[in-house]
Amino acid sequence: MKKLILASRNEHKIQELRETLADLDIELKSALDFKELQEVEEDKLTLEGNALKKARYVFEKTGLPTLADDTGLEVDALDGRPGVFSARYAGEDASYQDNTDKLLAELAKVDNKDRLAQFRTVVAFIDENGEKHFFEGICRGKILKEERGDKGFGYDPVFQPEGYEETFAQLDSEEKNNISHRGRAIQKFYDWLQNAMRDE
Ligand code: IMP
Repeated sequence: MKKLILASRNEHKIQELRETLADLDIELKSALDFKELQEVEEDKLTLEGNALKKARYVFEKTGLPTLADDTGLEVDALDGRPGVFSARYAGEDASYQDNTDKLLAELAKVDNKDRLAQFRTVVAFIDENGEKHFFEGICRGKILKEERGDKGFGYDPVFQPEGYEETFAQLDSEEKNNISHRGRAIQKFYDWLQNAMRDE
């Protein structure tokens, strides 16, 4: 059985990855299992940079293959902002609500047809030889003018994925994970890992 570490303490992310990898011969660990690991500052200017920084730190501390992710909301009318700064868009200690309020305020004068956006997740994986691999997942949609729904987190109440009448905050988590940026990035990682394990 191969051991992998997810460089995260987020229970939802750990569970989602565990479910995706369930039929592979993998023992999934997380940052929760290694008390000596510190919090990594996400100070890079790209999603790739932050994901790689987190994965590399845990790989160097443990010597085990590690994956980490970073996500941003990229709004077309804002030239891709808030992007890598999505978590602290309205300031260092901003809440999800602060960030959503700021987004709606910035887009207040933008017409419906110009409110296109995407969530983008980058998963960085460092394999047992220390080599890096990236997997990207994108979910396109649009930013509504008002919040709808109370599920999920972050910008979910104002993000309506393409092809849906509901926002992410109105979808069940299983439905969201099937089409979400993070779900898609993790699925790409799964496909790659399944192939890599077959060739071993
Ligand atoms: P993280 O890299 O997963 O921590 O995501 C960074 C930030 O992007 C979060 O703090 C949220 O504001 C936002 N975000 C990430 N994923 C989602 C999502 O699925 N829905 C809504 N917001 C998200």
